[in-house]
Amino acid sequence: METITDVETLRKRIGSWRRAGEKIGFVPTMGNLHEGHLALVEVAGNRCDRSVVSIFVNPMQFGEGEDYTSYPRTLEQDQGKLEQAGVDLLFAPSATTIYPQGNQAQTRVEVPEISDILCGASRPGHFVGVSTVVCKLFNYVQPDIAVFGEKDYQQLMVIRRMVADLAIPVEILGLPTVREADGLAKSSRNSYLSADERKQAPQLFEILKKTAELLRGGERNYGLLEENGLDLLRSAGFRPDYFTIRQAQDLTTPARDEQNLVILAAAYMGTTRLIDNLNAA
Ligand code: PAF
Repeated sequence: METITDVETLRKRIGSWRRAGEKIGFVPTMGNLHEGHLALVEVAGNRCDRSVVSIFVNPMQFGEGEDYTSYPRTLEQDQGKLEQAGVDLLFAPSATTIYPQGNQAQTRVEVPEISDILCGASRPGHFVGVSTVVCKLFNYVQPDIAVFGEKDYQQLMVIRRMVADLAIPVEILGLPTVREADGLAKSSRNSYLSADERKQAPQLFEILKKTAELLRGGERNYGLLEENGLDLLRSAGFRPDYFTIRQAQDLTTPARDEQNLVILAAAYMGTTRLIDNLNAA
């Protein structure tokens, strides 16, 4: 596997594959890779002739006081994992490569409405940072397929909308969340949890599952289910940010008879903000 840090070499390498008629699969990441990322990498490799992964901790998607500086950076271990997974190319640019004028001066890509709700309401500017960097990465790599995890469900919706609105010629694949044995969604941020917090953290998924069961059983008082979810989170030691039931295809408020529902939650365990979701179709 080759690691490339500059755009010119990246374009040359990928251009030669493309001219040879090869199909390019791409997985954008912020590194600190776990089984969740590796599942995305495997699908990109199986579906395409060449697989490209990017590792870039994107300053533009972190708000003030968030964990940009402390976000785990483990490039060497990540390279080993990607090598083993049979990845062809790792793109690991610096912040000045991606934002030569600084990220404040960067032209932005904003997907309206869906970027401002849920995680976007609690983390203003976050999804503008995500859609801007993903759009740039798509322009550098020009992949045929890009693979994302459904754990970041809202992010996946934002990216799908951006690709549709800007007519970016890439197929977006969303893959199911990979979980620990006790149900906690795999996330780089799980490493922030203390031993006690880690024991409590799987309750987030348990509460999502309970709510999904009630929905499948025919309960349609969404407000009550959301209040109940928030109470259960508090009793389990979380400080909830939101717990909500939405239409799975666009995250709008569902009608009573809506069948394709997703339950989404964000909650703090200590100082760690965890997110998870579950489809209740
Ligand atoms: O999900 C992530 O790791 C990031 O938000 C992404 C998509 C790589 C953009 O920085």
